[in-house]
Amino acid sequence: MAELLVNKIKRLKKEHNAVILVHNYQIGEVQDIADYLGDSLGLSIQASKTKADVIVFCGVRFMAETAAIISPNKKVIMPEIKAGCPMADMITVEKLRNLKLQNPKAKVVCYVNSSAEIKAESDVCCTSANAVKVCQSLRDTREIIFVPDKYLGHYASTKVPDKKFILWEGFCPTHAMILPEHIKEVKKLHPKAKVMVHPECTPETIALADEVLSTGGMLKYAKESDAKEIIVGTEIGMIYPLQKENPDKQFYAASDRAICPNMKLTNLEKVLWSLQDLKTEVKVPQDIAKKAKIAIEKMLEIGRQD
Ligand code: 13P
Ligand code: SF4
Repeated sequence: MAELLVNKIKRLKKEHNAVILVHNYQIGEVQDIADYLGDSLGLSIQASKTKADVIVFCGVRFMAETAAIISPNKKVIMPEIKAGCPMADMITVEKLRNLKLQNPKAKVVCYVNSSAEIKAESDVCCTSANAVKVCQSLRDTREIIFVPDKYLGHYASTKVPDKKFILWEGFCPTHAMILPEHIKEVKKLHPKAKVMVHPECTPETIALADEVLSTGGMLKYAKESDAKEIIVGTEIGMIYPLQKENPDKQFYAASDRAICPNMKLTNLEKVLWSLQDLKTEVKVPQDIAKKAKIAIEKMLEIGRQD
């Protein structure tokens, strides 16, 4: 059954000159059909470079929107158009504008996990793979409004002590579920294991980590480090690519309950249907896209830190 679906997907992909971009948290069967599998930054870079006419984006809306903004001449479709990100919904343009008025000297750094409208109001975007580097790059700025993730913003602030951070009260509900107790429990079972966590985790959880990394950074670290066992503090989908790329190592989820429901909405059937009718297109109004593109391109110029 799966093989039949995969063959049909491959045929349609060729027919439409499409490329399939997949985030690391997607379910295994979707990861397996990826032309490129990666983190938010890696996927944005691929979207900006691809020669394909159609991008099939298997992830959540902000990622597909980012691809549509940087590749305005391509058709970006999502197999599951309803896949959103609750953190991205925790901020509104009106409230951000007010905060900018209250802090006129501050620059706005916007986590890519945000709507196109919020990006359009920001000076520069970042992902978990370059938040620190992006904040450091703002050399003439002493104040940073960091939106919408207070935990990623807090983590960046600890690495960029010469600037004042004004943090938005947003967070990822999935990563907030990973508690220090969970790390301690798994560590008790596997005392030799290294601990890597995503910077969307709380500061208390981050304090117990050996490494704080984006999902792409986690894959790199897992491959390059000598550690044979690693505790993974992020969405549980991450265990799949880690284990697949490193069959001789053991990976333990810090919490089995750290599931992002939106990331699990896409499956092979939906990928096939989206390629059949090309209807679930992600579109960003031109005026918004034009402004948001400036902030995204600045981020792409800066590159990765992990
Ligand atoms: P990465 O960019 O590290 O893959 O993270 C994306 C995300 O949504 C984490 O919750
Ligand atoms: Fe948003 Fe969290 Fe899901 Fe990432 S894991 S898409 S931040 S809700």
